[in-house]
Amino acid sequence: MESNILLDLKNVNKVFGNNHVLKDINLQIERGKFITFLGPSGCGKTTLLRSIAGFYTVDKGEVWIDDKLVNDLPPYKRGTPMVFQEYALFPHMTVFDNIAYGLDIQKRPEGEVQQRVEAAMAQVKLTGLEERYPHEMSGGQQQRVAMARALVMNSPIILLDEPLSNLDAKLREEVRVELRTLQQELGLTVIYVTHDQLEALSMSDYIVVFNKGAIDQYGTPHEIYYEPRTQYVADFIGTTNFIDAVVEKSEGEMATVRYGQAGDTVTVTSKERLIVGEEVHLCVRPESLRIRQPEAGEFKMTGIIKSSMFLGEKERYFLVDEVGSEWIVDAYDIGKTHFEGFVQMSAATDKIHIIKKSN
Ligand SMILES: Nc1ncnc2c1ncn2[C@@H]1O[C@H](COP(=O)(O)OP(=O)(O)OP(=O)(O)O)[C@@H](O)[C@H]1O
Ligand SMILES: [Mg+2]
Repeated sequence: MESNILLDLKNVNKVFGNNHVLKDINLQIERGKFITFLGPSGCGKTTLLRSIAGFYTVDKGEVWIDDKLVNDLPPYKRGTPMVFQEYALFPHMTVFDNIAYGLDIQKRPEGEVQQRVEAAMAQVKLTGLEERYPHEMSGGQQQRVAMARALVMNSPIILLDEPLSNLDAKLREEVRVELRTLQQELGLTVIYVTHDQLEALSMSDYIVVFNKGAIDQYGTPHEIYYEPRTQYVADFIGTTNFIDAVVEKSEGEMATVRYGQAGDTVTVTSKERLIVGEEVHLCVRPESLRIRQPEAGEFKMTGIIKSSMFLGEKERYFLVDEVGSEWIVDAYDIGKTHFEGFVQMSAATDKIHIIKKSN
């Protein structure tokens, strides 16, 4: 039976000189999913993509595609076309010839080339533009040519390295939707590299968050946002308030933790196994905090509002608590309500997420 795992990376390491760029990457990617590699500049996203495509050979570890070990195969034998940030179209070739290029290299019969290129062009809605040259097309159209060039190869997996980064904001959003629709309609497996967290959250089935060449977390957008495994992930995606706490009681998935000057406690769920006495971070998103009296059992904190910012759908408040730590609270749909001075903040217990300090 065909395995559901299309790409399997085992302990992949890549070193450039004395720069250890990829550190023990272990990752399994399912067929038909949209996966995003997310992380700041220089964390190794492109290096890993190139190692999958075969432009780099790994120094240690194994790359498996479709149950085949491909460590020693060159790019054209791996079937993993890569779309580069700058699209890398041939400027002197027509759109048709650009898309046909990979098939011509394989010396496919002319009739088959014609038919497959036309099919790929229809998929990306470029029919009729066969004789244009890349410089006669918009950025979005060029991006689709690059996609068609990958699609025409009938490859099991398509690798996209920040393909939208040189489009303007509006076009970028349009192409983003088109790309996701195409991926779902055709059941493609796509690995998409970006350092834009919104792009990652909105397009992906799964996100891989990179931290200096290692994977900090692999999960769905919801898991990454609501259940970050490390402080780095919580900090990188969206905005988070952190406060130190100590585990007082731990039973199954429930933990009671003590926090703040007054030694308040709150009982919350935690998927991670916690040990009594262990130091942890509590995380709470700005949109989960309310400026109001806490109800029994809720997370609570007092603070002084230092400043605020009206952002239309919400007002963002910047506060300082009793020990001088900063807090951000977002108040939504507030109309004329405006808070000032010394206030109570609170959050429902299911909005409090625990991160182990050892992660
Ligand atoms: N061919 C190379 N030779 C030497 N060092 C390299 C090479 N390619 C990348 N590096 C180094 O490896 C590290 C990771 O680079 P990489 O291009 O993978 O980062 P990235 O996550 O794609 O960043 P960005 O978001 O800026 O594209 C960097 O320190 C970079 O300088
Ligand atoms: Mg890169």
